[in-house]
Amino acid sequence: MILVFASSKGGVGKSTTCAALGAGLALEGQRVLILDLDQNRTVHRWSRKTAIPGLTVEAVTMGEFASALKAKAGAGHYDHILIDLAGAREVTLFKAIARADLVVIPAQASEPDIREALVIAGDVRDVEDTAGRKIPYRLLLTKMYPLRTRVTDFAYAELARLGLPMFKTVLVERTAYREMFLNGQAPSQIERDKGAGAEIDALLDEIEAIVTPDTVRPSTPLQAAR
Ligand SMILES: Nc1ncnc2c1ncn2[C@@H]1O[C@H](COP(=O)(O)OP(=O)(O)O)[C@@H](O)[C@H]1O
Ligand SMILES: [Mg+2]
Repeated sequence: MILVFASSKGGVGKSTTCAALGAGLALEGQRVLILDLDQNRTVHRWSRKTAIPGLTVEAVTMGEFASALKAKAGAGHYDHILIDLAGAREVTLFKAIARADLVVIPAQASEPDIREALVIAGDVRDVEDTAGRKIPYRLLLTKMYPLRTRVTDFAYAELARLGLPMFKTVLVERTAYREMFLNGQAPSQIERDKGAGAEIDALLDEIEAIVTPDTVRPSTPLQAAR
């Protein structure tokens, strides 16, 4: 599948979520390519510190993007391609959305982030019209406080009002995510079957159900890789 991580804003957790999910899939034994289009090259630098079999990260420029994706998707070397976009609303974003099986829109539970997510959701629907095919998208709440607060209550109410489709799973503000780019570890390696590892598993289950609704994931998918 081709997963695109999109937001017109930086700092919402695109690179973190992309790397954590890519690592999670690779640890299940799947062949994963992450195309890093973020100018900061966060995921590419992280990959040099990690050694997860089956996970490849390539940094590509915006100009190279379309041909790189076509070549990589066509070569059949990978089960999944994850695309970490720059936090900007530019042409690569639209090109990536046009090829996506699912667009993940990370956002924090704040009014400005939800507004930005709404803009990207509109962009997905525009590309959908032009491409003439359904392009699923979901908002993903990231860096959430573990406890419900007035802010999270507001965010949920606002999201319900706007009718934005969202993942049931949220990514809580956790050390395993915050430190992954420092220590080179994937959240699913630091916290297996709990905390961040359990969140990533739950998110992968949801993603799979959206992209391939007829397949059932094994209930303990990480066992195979251990
Ligand atoms: N769930 C999380 N818990 C803790 N820290 C997070 C989480 N998600 C992202 N971060 C941190 O927030 C910052 C921005 O995240 P990043 O993934 O680089 O955002 P983006 O790619 O959207 O700019 C980074 O310092 C990252 O470590
Ligand atoms: Mg980034």
